[in-house]
Amino acid sequence: MTERTLILIKPDAVRRGLVGEVLGRFERKGLTLVAMDLRTIDAAAADRHYAEHLDKPFYPPLREFITSGPLVAMVAEGDQAVSVVRLLVGATDGRGAAAGTIRGDLSLSNRENLVHASDSPESAAREISNFFPNL
Ligand code: CMP
Repeated sequence: MTERTLILIKPDAVRRGLVGEVLGRFERKGLTLVAMDLRTIDAAAADRHYAEHLDKPFYPPLREFITSGPLVAMVAEGDQAVSVVRLLVGATDGRGAAAGTIRGDLSLSNRENLVHASDSPESAAREISNFFPNL
């Protein structure tokens, strides 16, 4: 079933010059790019995006990180795109993520883990409308 999902290539990936590497993995998988934008988000946009994490102890430094520089927000489309993208991205903590995944190959951090990807079709709909209200 064709789905859309929101992907953020986070500020650590932009700073490290990994946008092409990360984007290329999604393209090579066969996903279709529907929208893409380089932008720096403010604290209000971070709070909207991470609404379910606002009360977590890791949220203040996460907000600091996600607003610390430009990120690439994008919408990708394809068969079962939500779960396919989550598989390519790997587990949250880059130190334990499986080799072959983006985080497993390229991240050594639980916070600076290069990519965010929607975790369900419902989250995808909410996150896409936050970042790309005109889609
Ligand atoms: P993401 O997939 O964007 O979803 C929530 C983010 O919070 C996660 O990636 C990490 O960047 C961050 N995160 C989740 N758990 C922790 C944690 N225990 N410590 C620090 N950062 C975390």
